[in-house]
Amino acid sequence: MDPQALVDAALRAREHAYAPYSKYRVGAAVLAESSRVYLGCNVENASYGLTVCAERAAVLSAVSTGERVVTALAVVTEDGATPCGACRQVLVEFCRDARVFVAKPDGTFRETTLAALLPQAFPRDSR
Ligand code: THU
Repeated sequence: MDPQALVDAALRAREHAYAPYSKYRVGAAVLAESSRVYLGCNVENASYGLTVCAERAAVLSAVSTGERVVTALAVVTEDGATPCGACRQVLVEFCRDARVFVAKPDGTFRETTLAALLPQAFPRDSR
């Protein structure tokens, strides 16, 4: 799949972000082994700690549909920031060898890897 198409899907998911508290909107799209794309956005809560990040929402949607392997991930944040630590650990579980595209709201993106984002991840690399 064209990376830009996955970024565009993440941009569309970002339109659904529910972020009334932080005003920081995030969208994510994952391409699974089946070639299906799953979307996620951040969903905040008045009890702030219950917030779910966009990346985890997208991956959990894929897994809930029966997917186990993600081959590419796109995330769009306000400023091109990379996934948080909690998301990185979840991504390692299902997106270990995925291409990772980190984008800004204008659709420009850069590519990175899970290994770069979370070196020595638990559990496989840490033993
Ligand atoms: N957020 C994400 O959706 N993904 C990340 O990787 C980092 C943070 C969300 C959570 C919260 O709704 C907002 O961005 C500000 O932290």
